[in-house]
Amino acid sequence: MKEPFYITTSIPYVNGEPHLGHAMEFIQADVLARYARLLDMDVVYSTGSDEHGSKVAETALKLGITPKELADQNSQRFRDLMSKLNVTSDRFIRTTDKGHEQRAQIIWKNLSADIYKSKYVGWYDVRQEEFVPEGQVEQERTDPSHPKAYQRVEEENYFFKLSKYTARILEAIEGDELKIFPATKRNEILSLLREGLEDISISRPKTKLDWGIGVPGDPDQVMYVWFEALMNYITVLGYPEHEDFKKYWPAKYQIVGKDISRFHAAIWPGILLALGLPLQKNLYIHGFVNIGGAKMSKSDGNVIAPAEIIDIYGVDAFRYYFLRRIPSYNDGDFSWELMDQAYHGELANELGNAIQRTVVMIEKYQQGLIGALPPSSHDAAVYHQAIKDCRFDKALDEVWDQIRGLNQYIEEQKPWQIAKQGDTEHLGSVLAYMASNLVEIADLLLPFMPDTAQLIKATFSEGVLRKPNILFPRVENPKVPKAPDIRAGKPVTG
Ligand code: MSP
Repeated sequence: MKEPFYITTSIPYVNGEPHLGHAMEFIQADVLARYARLLDMDVVYSTGSDEHGSKVAETALKLGITPKELADQNSQRFRDLMSKLNVTSDRFIRTTDKGHEQRAQIIWKNLSADIYKSKYVGWYDVRQEEFVPEGQVEQERTDPSHPKAYQRVEEENYFFKLSKYTARILEAIEGDELKIFPATKRNEILSLLREGLEDISISRPKTKLDWGIGVPGDPDQVMYVWFEALMNYITVLGYPEHEDFKKYWPAKYQIVGKDISRFHAAIWPGILLALGLPLQKNLYIHGFVNIGGAKMSKSDGNVIAPAEIIDIYGVDAFRYYFLRRIPSYNDGDFSWELMDQAYHGELANELGNAIQRTVVMIEKYQQGLIGALPPSSHDAAVYHQAIKDCRFDKALDEVWDQIRGLNQYIEEQKPWQIAKQGDTEHLGSVLAYMASNLVEIADLLLPFMPDTAQLIKATFSEGVLRKPNILFPRVENPKVPKAPDIRAGKPVTG
């Protein structure tokens, strides 16, 4: 039987369109899913959309449409983006799906021993869909860089006894039963847990918000959006009775951004423990994508749609950028200049060039005959470990070391000179080595840049060259300011 491998991303809110941060998260999960399939595992990659809550309800109201209409529109946009990104997700759950709603109510009932009613007095942050305790608001008031619009809330709510599970969660994370990457984020979570978790409010009165899943047995309350959204990770598998749930849970990897780590490293494990379920195995917390050094923000007008970049540079160049140029364990930056540099420098000049030279020489000196490829001579242990640790940037560094090594080999061997000297046997072995190296590089690139990798394999794998179209042709992007032409002899103008 194949080893089950369940992987999830967070499920984005549908109050707006997908952005670069969402795209990066889908791609990161896709690398792990594709990698696990290559290892012959039985993969389920699940994603979806988070459709209830104040944020969606308020945006819909502003637009003069119903929350469901808004959710229908934007949920589809996320799915369209996923296919544009060449992401191989297997399931897409919407929290308005009947199945999710019913199963969320079953979960609520199964948690009833840990649920009680009480009064919540504090604030609510609609943007983050978060209850913000009085003390925290006081602190933030003194920090002018945090101008936040909180809603004052004083309401009768249901609470979940999260505090009860603090010690168990702490133990699980300290002992790596639940592994958190990167270590900096793991340490943040550990110190939060050492301070102790408080019980959390898990419902809202319908008088304040009615766009949510009903609380079983209480017609006046709906579930707090985060509480039911987290449940998607098991409702999508058919918790509690479906075979898939029994087969695929616990998730091997869950991938989320740094702003929602607490929900996934504290609240979600609390729910799982209360249900008597095992915790997810690995939690990878990625950083934020900024644009030109600034926070992405619609109001600042610096938002770039993922499709805009893909339409200019192609999907694999997009995937490459967000997997290598955005540090896997930190925040990173996108700008058109950096994208253009990565495309022309690393993709066209390094990878594209190695392929192009090899193709041209095999055609010119051997009429397209490659011959038998020698066995691999590279150790890819660092690459494999990097993927397991979600260090996508490091895994690609390894691949690029190999690409640079190949270009250097070509420079040193000078196959054109060997051809002149007429040593056909030596030339044949040098060219076969170059081709085999490219096939190896393609194998390593499969999870990252699947189309490019397949094209390289098709070119060199069959003994006879299958001539490819030029990979990574020059792109003129008007959004990239032209560097001044400093070639000698050019008249200086302006
Ligand atoms: N709906 C919740 C998640 C519920 S999961 C049970 C949510 N949605 S979100 O749309 O705000 O964010 C979705 C994902 O995008 C999160 O992992 C978040 O961290 C990530 N990002 C949001 N902005 C981002 C950047 N600027 N850069 C990278 N990722 C970012 O939170």
